[in-house]
Amino acid sequence: MTATVVPSVWRLWERMKLSVSVPSSPALPVPPSLSPVLRLFEIGSAPSAGALYPYEHIVLVGDSLYSVDPGRRRCRLLHAGQSVRLALIRSGLGDADALVFVVVRPWLSMRKYGDRGYLYCLLDAAHVATHLLCVGSESFSSAALRTRARTRPFADLLDLRHSFVHSVLSLSGALGFACSSQWSCADDRDASNDMVSWLEEECWNSLAPFLAPGLGRTLPVHRAPLLPGLPPDFPSLSSLAASRRSTKDFSPGGCAVDSVVDALRIPLTTDLDPFAVVDASVVTGFSGDDLVRYCMGQEHLRHASSAVLFHADRTVLLDDLNGAVFRAGALAHLLYLGATAADVGVTAIGGFDADRWRSAAGLPVSHDVLYVALLGRPGGAAVKVDRLQRAHAHNER
Ligand SMILES: Cc1cc2nc3c(=O)[nH]c(=O)nc-3n(C[C@H](O)[C@H](O)[C@H](O)COP(=O)(O)O)c2cc1C
Repeated sequence: MTATVVPSVWRLWERMKLSVSVPSSPALPVPPSLSPVLRLFEIGSAPSAGALYPYEHIVLVGDSLYSVDPGRRRCRLLHAGQSVRLALIRSGLGDADALVFVVVRPWLSMRKYGDRGYLYCLLDAAHVATHLLCVGSESFSSAALRTRARTRPFADLLDLRHSFVHSVLSLSGALGFACSSQWSCADDRDASNDMVSWLEEECWNSLAPFLAPGLGRTLPVHRAPLLPGLPPDFPSLSSLAASRRSTKDFSPGGCAVDSVVDALRIPLTTDLDPFAVVDASVVTGFSGDDLVRYCMGQEHLRHASSAVLFHADRTVLLDDLNGAVFRAGALAHLLYLGATAADVGVTAIGGFDADRWRSAAGLPVSHDVLYVALLGRPGGAAVKVDRLQRAHAHNER
């Protein structure tokens, strides 16, 4: 008996098939003004839930906008000339030598983690923005991060439909560092980018009603720690950033926490509201069984000795959810740098039971725990198992 191929199956196959019919774009030299910005992407990397990195980097130098792919060491020219100059004037982002836009694409995280994935993509973006701010502030004479800028003109120019500008780093006065020779650049101004799956469309539609429209103006920046207290004296943030890692597991024993949490007071130059508080609390003295239970059964975390909870009153969350999550992610990032300096094992944790941690820390019921980081002696595991599991992180069965 021969099977007949019905047309609907053919359409299904067409959907499943991969084909790249776009002609390859002409190569360009890497412009000298882009080189010190590309170098920032060569210094270390930022943590990411499940190593998914649900964002893209867009860089503006002069009147050109490039998409930068650090993994492939590749950049693509997207727009140049009058349209870019106009977007810059309309956004009021000033006359920095370069701007780095972190553009979040929630689908890349939500396709694995569902609704929880939206929290993770905001936290991932907060990590990478803080990382770039820290390394940028040592490679340029001025570096500032805006989380509430008027970026609509750039979103329109880039035709962002299922992603949005999360934050913008402005950089001026390159201190003479250049990128390695591995980078390639292509002129992609004629390429179209309308390959969007219906699943991503559905995902975006579920978020769109909740996304804040963004401010109508760009705010001034100020340099301050995110938590009150004296700023610590820290060695080069860039060298810490270069060796930062998430520990893959922990071994039994304690660790020095004080010098690690000092890093939470490293000052950052941002436009954040100085009055919107996200706090950090250290919790110790839990049993291994409790820890695994509080972290959705993640056995590799059993021997961590301290937890740092990032939490806020619910009114702060309701007022500015993205801003509060940004602070939690930025603080966790600084904690990573502190742990790296003190040789303490650290990992961020997205898969945690917020209510259990809240009561373990004795926090008021009006507080929500946004994010957790664990500290302890690094173990010897070779693989980070949270990436392998379907999704520890959001309690899926
Ligand atoms: C938002 C977020 C959530 C994370 N959640 C977990 C987690 O639940 N368990 C875990 O072991 N690691 C977690 N991680 C750490 C990632 O596994 C780690 O960052 C990633 O594998 C990349 O490795 P690296 O940090 O060494 O570059 C999380 C990281 C982030 C940024």
